[in-house]
Amino acid sequence: MQSYNIDEGLYWVGAQDPDLRVFDVIMSTQYGTSYNSYFVRGRGACAVVEGVKAGFFGEWKERLTDAGADPSRIDYLVLNHTEPDHTGAVRELLELSPETCIVCSRAASLLIREIVNEPLNLRVVGDGDSIDLGGVTLRFVSAPFLHWPDSMFTYIPERRALISGDVFGFHHHWPGVFEDAMPVSELLETQKYYFDVIMSPFKKHVLEACEKVRGLDISVICPSHGPVLNKDPLGAVARYEKWAAPGAHRGKSAFVGYVSCYGFTAKLARAIAAELESEGVDVRVQDVSLIPALEAAAMAMAADAVIIGSPTVNRDALEPVWQVMGALSAIVCRSKVGASFGSYGWSGEAAKHILGRMEQLGMKTAGACRAKMNPNEEELGAARTLAKDVAAALNA
Ligand code: FEO
Repeated sequence: MQSYNIDEGLYWVGAQDPDLRVFDVIMSTQYGTSYNSYFVRGRGACAVVEGVKAGFFGEWKERLTDAGADPSRIDYLVLNHTEPDHTGAVRELLELSPETCIVCSRAASLLIREIVNEPLNLRVVGDGDSIDLGGVTLRFVSAPFLHWPDSMFTYIPERRALISGDVFGFHHHWPGVFEDAMPVSELLETQKYYFDVIMSPFKKHVLEACEKVRGLDISVICPSHGPVLNKDPLGAVARYEKWAAPGAHRGKSAFVGYVSCYGFTAKLARAIAAELESEGVDVRVQDVSLIPALEAAAMAMAADAVIIGSPTVNRDALEPVWQVMGALSAIVCRSKVGASFGSYGWSGEAAKHILGRMEQLGMKTAGACRAKMNPNEEELGAARTLAKDVAAALNA
């Protein structure tokens, strides 16, 4: 297995996972992914920054060897954060190289002990701390909540290289390893999707981190997934700043998502949407059975209010609705207004169950409405009243 030279004494030694199609249960990965790891050699010591997932140790070891490292004599293993896609194989490396010092943030030090479950030679570092490898410096930059509380960056000033963890990266198994050989459209689309799913709940922290990155002299960004950003690293920073920026002042928005067996629940959806529009709310209506659940969830999380409808079948809401509800982030949704609706024939639990899930997510629930089979005028009136209540909650 080949390593890739990025700069003098700096190598990509990660693992490729081309067949992965779902990451962390929460996002699709149509291009697979990579678990990027970097070998840094100084005159007096060497370091590996970032590990790889369990099951990829053999590939990691081979690439380290190809880069000229002795995998049994690694001085430092720097973990920018401890999610197991980057730490799953750490235990195997430590079995081979027991003297290795693990370098990480204080928050990460608590987690890595629970992942490896063995006594560790640990060194906790904070913002501005550094390790001299001999002519090459690892300087640590605190960047918490991107996307875990333990995250940080590792900056190598002599190589103008920023090893950024999950930030700026994206899921893409890219055999060429470097950004400059990648189609731009593929890069932008996949990087934005990664931002939306993984980083968008932490926009404030993204902006704080970007400000720190702007203060560094950088020629290459080495993220923990996807290609090494060697062509336009500051372009990635600019995109992150744009995506994380607070939106310009705009009106309130609502997502009305539903499924409908015979068009009855769809009628309620249309009545709710029309009333919201008459209240000045920008509404997006979507049959969620027609698009991927993650896409529908992204639409919902982009709105100020989320109104979800399902017929009741066998005393419950239908599966496409639960897939969307399950993909909603409690962090993103906790301040949103929620409501539910649905047609039913006998018992009619769906709307109540959906509202219950919204309460679990910490949403401000405005209520539910139902219609027995085909909505009559009175039931459509109740749907319009629910929409007015949602609009009132949005403006409260
Ligand atoms: Fe790629 Fe947060 O792990």
